[in-house]
Amino acid sequence: SVYQENFNIQHSPLKIGHRGAAGHCPENTVASYKKALELGAEVLEVDIHLSKDDVLVVHHDPTLDRTTSGKGRLRDYTAAELKEFDAGSWYHSRFKNERIPLLSEVFERFRTEAGFLIEIKHPSLYPGIEAKLAEELRKYIGSASFNNPIMVHSFDADSMRRFHLLMPEVQVGVLIKRRINDEALKEIAKFASFLNPKQTILDSKLQLRIQKHGMKVYTWTVNNKKRMRMFEKMKVDGIISDFPDYFSD
Ligand code: G3P
Ligand code: CA
Repeated sequence: SVYQENFNIQHSPLKIGHRGAAGHCPENTVASYKKALELGAEVLEVDIHLSKDDVLVVHHDPTLDRTTSGKGRLRDYTAAELKEFDAGSWYHSRFKNERIPLLSEVFERFRTEAGFLIEIKHPSLYPGIEAKLAEELRKYIGSASFNNPIMVHSFDADSMRRFHLLMPEVQVGVLIKRRINDEALKEIAKFASFLNPKQTILDSKLQLRIQKHGMKVYTWTVNNKKRMRMFEKMKVDGIISDFPDYFSD
């Protein structure tokens, strides 16, 4: 499709706001995504889980305690129950009206302005989450108001392989924190378009090895300006940051 073609000829690193603009706002909230776009992010990184009633919701941790007024596992609450919780006050009282967004709400609100990098969190906790996401994306892909890059990544390579089979038109990536050998790279390259390394393990040598296997490199989470300039010079394909204001113009 047109949006994927445009996206494939991109040359400077794609500017990806981590959980929105998590350095400025409570992560993964509407306020955070709005801020990320104001600061120049092109793509929003969005972490997803499934509620008790199998609705895709946007949140980082599998539990509610760190970033909301709720307690315990997200999976134990319906989407309506999750909406009762305050997802902003932990960060600052001025965000007290923030709620846990549904993925559909984030798409509806931002699809005309932003691309999306969706991270499936802990897919082993949510059997069937790949099919749910494919079903949700099918509502939008190809529509005129969704003309931005959309990608899916996860630390779980098997989940990405499953998603790729369900929806080959959406590019997937695998996140890694540790070094990786060529054999593993070759396996991942069979279905993935990206291999997204933690910034502490990424150097030119690893970048070249990933690119030689035909995959793009999105590195995370780059929150230091000097490191940001270095990765921009290395011409990585994308940079994921809590501070979209640090990206070069
Ligand atoms: O974008 C990569 C990064 O988001 C993965 O780690 O824990 O921040 O979701 P995490
Ligand atoms: Ca993430």
